[in-house]
Amino acid sequence: MIVAALTSFNKGGTGKSTLAALAAMVPARKPVCIIDADTPGCGSSAILHVSGPGLAELAWGKAELREVVLEVEVEEAFPTVKGVLGGGDRPRVWVLPRGEVKAPASMLAEIAIKAALLLRSYANVIVDLPAYPDDSFDVVIENVDVVLLVANPDDASIRAVTEREFETSAVVKPVLNKVPNMAWTSRHEKALRKYGELIKVPFDPALPLLFHRPEEALRRMRKDTAHAIVDLCKAMTMIQAMRVG
Ligand SMILES: Nc1ncnc2c1ncn2[C@@H]1O[C@H](COP(=O)(O)OP(=O)(O)O)[C@@H](O)[C@H]1O
Ligand SMILES: [Mg+2]
Repeated sequence: MIVAALTSFNKGGTGKSTLAALAAMVPARKPVCIIDADTPGCGSSAILHVSGPGLAELAWGKAELREVVLEVEVEEAFPTVKGVLGGGDRPRVWVLPRGEVKAPASMLAEIAIKAALLLRSYANVIVDLPAYPDDSFDVVIENVDVVLLVANPDDASIRAVTEREFETSAVVKPVLNKVPNMAWTSRHEKALRKYGELIKVPFDPALPLLFHRPEEALRRMRKDTAHAIVDLCKAMTMIQAMRVG
């Protein structure tokens, strides 16, 4: 199966953790494992209400992988997508949280990619990265199958992903999140297209509810948001099919 990572390099708040958590909730044939390397309390494991030992404890040798990968009950299935991924099955979501003890970014990065490559035998893996100003998490970018570059329609986040040099053999997919509407275009979109076909996700006021009122967030989520999240999942799994075939 595949390992995907979401990054905006040094820009925070673009929606990486939100999109990772939503992608994991889409019913699919295969389990999805989120590896949360984000700042404690901020990442996709927080959205999914998973905490406790995780990457940091693994990195220090204080826990084993099987102890820190937890299965999450997704109570209400992601809307409108029955069958879209050949599924219609209840999502099976596993989460490897960030952990509770301190660890340097470079150590977290090393253990995150190591765990991802092991877990790939059992699940499609999504690595949720923090904003990082240096090259500490580049080892993840370099070793995954798919990199989702997540930007918003503003100069700072576009620059963060278009002006940063990075090396990877992964398939790189640009994602423009929080667009005013799906028909909307801008110079920001053009800049991102250098990485290929763009996945646009609308600004959706339901998404900030995901943390405190997940059922309501999923119920109120716009249709085009749901479709964009499915596109995100498809982009990842179609690449898998291409690679395997
Ligand atoms: N498409 C969207 N529409 C509206 N709000 C969004 C959208 N995507 C993310 N958000 C909100 O933006 C904020 C930052 O999202 P988050 O996923 O934490 O970003 P990151 O992980 O990149 O730092 C959160 O309040 C989240 O609810
Ligand atoms: Mg985040």
